[in-house]
Amino acid sequence: MSLPSPSTPSTPPAPTPPGEPTGHIDGGAPPEWTAGPDRTDSPSRTAEPDRTDAPSRTAEPDRTDAPSPAPQPGRADPAASDDRAQGAPPDRTDIVDLYLRHIGSGRAVMGRVMGGMAEVRSEGAWIHADDGRRFLDFGGYGVFILGHRHPAVVEAVHRQIDTHPLASRVFLEPVAARAAQALAAHTPPGVDFVHFVNSGAEATEAALKLARAHGRTSVITTRRGFHGKTLGALSVTANPTYQTPFQPLLPDVTQVAYDDPADLEQALAARRDRACVVVEPVQGEGGVRIPRPGYLRQVRALCRVYGALLVVDEIQTGMGRLGTWWGVDAEEVVPDVLLAGKGLSGGVVPIAAMAATAEAYAPFSRDPYLHTSTFGASPIACAAALAAVRAMEEENTVARAAALGLRVLAAVREVCAPYEGGLVREVRGRGLLIGIEFAEEQAVGELLLEMIARGVLVNHSLNSTRVLRLTPPAVVEDAALDLFLTTLAEALRSTAERMSG
Ligand SMILES: Cc1ncc(COP(=O)(O)O)c(C=O)c1O
Repeated sequence: MSLPSPSTPSTPPAPTPPGEPTGHIDGGAPPEWTAGPDRTDSPSRTAEPDRTDAPSRTAEPDRTDAPSPAPQPGRADPAASDDRAQGAPPDRTDIVDLYLRHIGSGRAVMGRVMGGMAEVRSEGAWIHADDGRRFLDFGGYGVFILGHRHPAVVEAVHRQIDTHPLASRVFLEPVAARAAQALAAHTPPGVDFVHFVNSGAEATEAALKLARAHGRTSVITTRRGFHGKTLGALSVTANPTYQTPFQPLLPDVTQVAYDDPADLEQALAARRDRACVVVEPVQGEGGVRIPRPGYLRQVRALCRVYGALLVVDEIQTGMGRLGTWWGVDAEEVVPDVLLAGKGLSGGVVPIAAMAATAEAYAPFSRDPYLHTSTFGASPIACAAALAAVRAMEEENTVARAAALGLRVLAAVREVCAPYEGGLVREVRGRGLLIGIEFAEEQAVGELLLEMIARGVLVNHSLNSTRVLRLTPPAVVEDAALDLFLTTLAEALRSTAERMSG
């Protein structure tokens, strides 16, 4: 790294349901906030949305006009009754009601839009709902590269629970040390230090603070970039929908065009030795935007020239998602700071990490109290991370993701081909991060619901409303892939008909 010493050291909006306006789903106007609720006379029900307001298609997904579901999803799940016996909700309406009363009307409405199911169980590429159906998970927001409940990760977590799930934070924590070592064995050369946190957004926060500790107070982010939604992370998540309600955010944040080294250079030249650049190797939430080859290398070189700290956010692209351990590996780029999350836990316990070179990490290394969190680097989460990394090594997950990604991308392109130039604008992807860009954003919501009705889960993209995102696990088997492709073909046909009619 070439960080001259500073003078003063020291991450769906819901998919737009058919017929819904774009932007946030709002299940009802929130009650006006006053100085504080009077608990004695606050009418608890006044804040509740009028449930009859919910968009009509949302109240009950119209199953009657959807083609008959594929056999697997529609098939009764024999373990479903066990789920109920074990305390799973017996009545889906109750869950919607509880959401309305205690979690939020918007989320309740969204749940109804998605069909009203509650998810109660998962394994491999499958999620089971309380109504006995199962869903093939090609979404999961990029978390489940190992699938759900990988046995080795689950076993390691059980073991940790039975011994020492959370630490005193007085003594050293062996599982955190081993997890850091295991992760550092795969990070780019020299990116050896690891600070574990509980979420992707927290990893971004840690990076922004580390940059400040180096005097890099001017932050450069890319348009459509997504880095989390806590206040600091939101400052670099370039989406006015999420930023505007919370202004003012962090000062001195500049957005430059993604995949545009010249724009970046201009911003850097005006901030010599003061800047921190935050960038994704492929923009995931931005709609699977893949930069031209060489972009990351140019970003790396420019950061050197202008004395900027380079933070590469691999929270979505890392852990094999792109068919390499990290997106930077494809260009042999060594960032000063690398952010990991999502798949890092093996999809079992929330954990994320900020990894850095010794030089970049120095302020955190010197002072362990500079940035702390009670639950950060908890033994239970670190046990999950350690087991996940080991499982990926043993099962060759990264290579599997690369090979499967090529097959899925080619097959999705084939299925979408009849619609290109019309409903579908482009299919693009790298590894197991694949985007289908539609001509109109309404198509994303339509297709998503059509897929759910047929038993397959996919995601929208938070910063690119016309892009449907596929992030399947690397453990998908041929039969499941065939089911996905058949379902996609049917859902596309139905969406095209609906939108043209
Ligand atoms: C690239 C990237 N960075 C940061 C985040 C935020 O992570 P989290 O949702 O765990 O806070 C996300 C989440 O989607 C992401 O894709």
